[in-house]
Amino acid sequence: MYTTELQKQAGVTTAEPAELLAAFEARVAADEFIEPKDWMPDAYRRTLVRQMSQHAHSEVVGMLPEGNWITRAPSLRRKAVLLAKVQDEGGHALYLYSATETLGTSREEMIDALHSGRAKYSTIFNYPTLTWADIGAIGWLVDGAAIMNQVPLQRTSYGPYARAMVRICKEESFHQRQGYEIMMALAVGTPEQKRMAQDALNRWWWPSLMMFGPPDDNSPNSAQSMRWRIKRDTNDQLRQKFVDVTVPQAEAIGLSVPDPDLKWHEDTGHYTFGAIDWEEFYAVVRGEGPVARERMQARRKAWDDGAWVRDAATAHAEKRSRRQAA
Ligand code: 3HC
Repeated sequence: MYTTELQKQAGVTTAEPAELLAAFEARVAADEFIEPKDWMPDAYRRTLVRQMSQHAHSEVVGMLPEGNWITRAPSLRRKAVLLAKVQDEGGHALYLYSATETLGTSREEMIDALHSGRAKYSTIFNYPTLTWADIGAIGWLVDGAAIMNQVPLQRTSYGPYARAMVRICKEESFHQRQGYEIMMALAVGTPEQKRMAQDALNRWWWPSLMMFGPPDDNSPNSAQSMRWRIKRDTNDQLRQKFVDVTVPQAEAIGLSVPDPDLKWHEDTGHYTFGAIDWEEFYAVVRGEGPVARERMQARRKAWDDGAWVRDAATAHAEKRSRRQAA
């Protein structure tokens, strides 16, 4: 038996059994995790592959702006911390690619989609890191925005994604603190260091707000992803939380958020903020970000240069399994 109404609601294009669809919807509504071998609508699977692979790509492309500063970190301590942070991001990509593979897509397919421009990655990583303060601003703002988005994803409806997020969130909160600590140090440093911190905040503030995605009334995927409990909060809800938490952090270290329209409202307990330049956001999504071309060139080169490692690992795995079989 098939039903077009449920299919329509679920964005399902092919005929899917009504009983299975109803049971799936009931499990999601009861906050049960959906696991890899469970039945799921094709559109749910496709949405997860899209979001999770985009998330994985963001982690791996996100290593580039900071990796750029490992050799120029101002002390051995800063270098060690930054190295560990960038390695964590590589680890996050691995958990997320592995979690996405449980949906029946291969790592090669996902990487190919990234390299050919069919898959997206976060807009934020298409901006250059010009000074050491940018490393502070990325940790504080970019990882801070990522945590805001990712803490609720620990309760996303797909089990492997939710479980991957638990460790990722723990590590992201260390990243956020290391970034804020860099900004704190610069803010109480020389006038030039404080100017550098303020300049980084000025350049990273608006792109960080864009990370949460388009406004809710222009977000084609939000309604269905909320129904399926893939997303737990809307883009605008998360953006608002981020502004409410981050503005006092800037004030605490004597930096000012570059928004003349920013206003605190005692009655609502929230800030209102100025208009986001959505033209800029969509241009960056289209691949026209300031360093978009360099980012993709670097990723393709890393993939090509790493071919011998993948070949060696595959040959080693085959040798081991032959030995075990014998
Ligand atoms: N960058 C690039 N594309 C974006 C984007 C952004 N900041 N925000 C939205 N988009 C894209 C969406 O992917 C979608 O395109 P698609 O349908 O072709 O995939 C389109 O814009 C419309 O947006 P929607 O709001 O309808 O899309 P979603 O419902 O998927 O919401 C999202 C977008 C909030 C980013 C959501 O996908 C999400 O929560 N993803 C998981 C978290 C994630 O990917 N974070 C990326 C940053 S990770 C990171 O920062 C690494 C850390 O180490 C710092």
